[in-house]
Amino acid sequence: MSKRKSNLIKLSFAMAAAILAASISLGTTTSAAQQDLPEGKGAELARDKCVTCHEADVIVAQRLSRQGWTREVEKMIRWGAPVSDSEKEVLVDYFAAHFKPRSAVTQPTAGDSQGKQIFEEKCLVCHEADLTQQQRLSRPGWTREVEKMIRWGAAVTDAEKGPLVDYLSRNFGPRPLNNR
Ligand code: HEC
Ligand code: HEC
Repeated sequence: MSKRKSNLIKLSFAMAAAILAASISLGTTTSAAQQDLPEGKGAELARDKCVTCHEADVIVAQRLSRQGWTREVEKMIRWGAPVSDSEKEVLVDYFAAHFKPRSAVTQPTAGDSQGKQIFEEKCLVCHEADLTQQQRLSRPGWTREVEKMIRWGAAVTDAEKGPLVDYLSRNFGPRPLNNR
């Protein structure tokens, strides 16, 4: 392995450790931390590879499409999860089967119906909701993101932008970790 690559790996380990330490010190452990992964093909492998740096709860809380799980597993590999190519397939199959999206949007807040409707009509055209649900952005961040999607072709009118950004920032605002 080249020196540069091994330095890069060391760096990503340090980064992962720092993030993990930050989230532990914030006391993110809840009763959900006791949750185990459901049985099924791939469950053993998932416990072996994925419940080492963190508990199963961060996984169980996600609802992603197959694409979303592929991205997530690849991200964890970049962060240091020791997963081979063939194991990656098994893991993605397992997570995609057990933790698929329930509906377009999880737990909408009351008063969101207009923004939610715009989101479902205008934002789920080119990709699934998971790309959006994975983001945690501030209000200015969501305004920028919606404007970017409009430039990329989303058919959102000026009048729809306000309720849509309201909806997105209320449901997918920054996690406490990002506020520090
Ligand atoms: C080398 C350590 C490490 C391993 C191994 C690991 N993770 Fe993670 N994972 C992290 C860190 C660090 C975070 C972010 C901190 C947190 O939220 O607790 C995280 C967060 C997550 C999240 C929350 C969403 C996100 O992206 O922040 C999911 C889902 C997840 N991991 C899934 C997995 C899966 C699936 C595997 C097995 C392929 C895995 N993890 C293996 C370090 C690891
Ligand atoms: C015309 C097609 C199209 C529409 C409509 C669309 N998007 Fe996207 N969006 C994309 C593409 C292409 C990507 C990047 C693909 C990828 O990363 O897999 C993307 C990526 C994203 C991402 C990930 C972060 C990023 O910027 O790459 C978010 C969040 C997102 N879209 C939100 C939205 C929202 C909210 C709407 C509704 C206003 C929307 N999208 C409508 C094409 C679209």
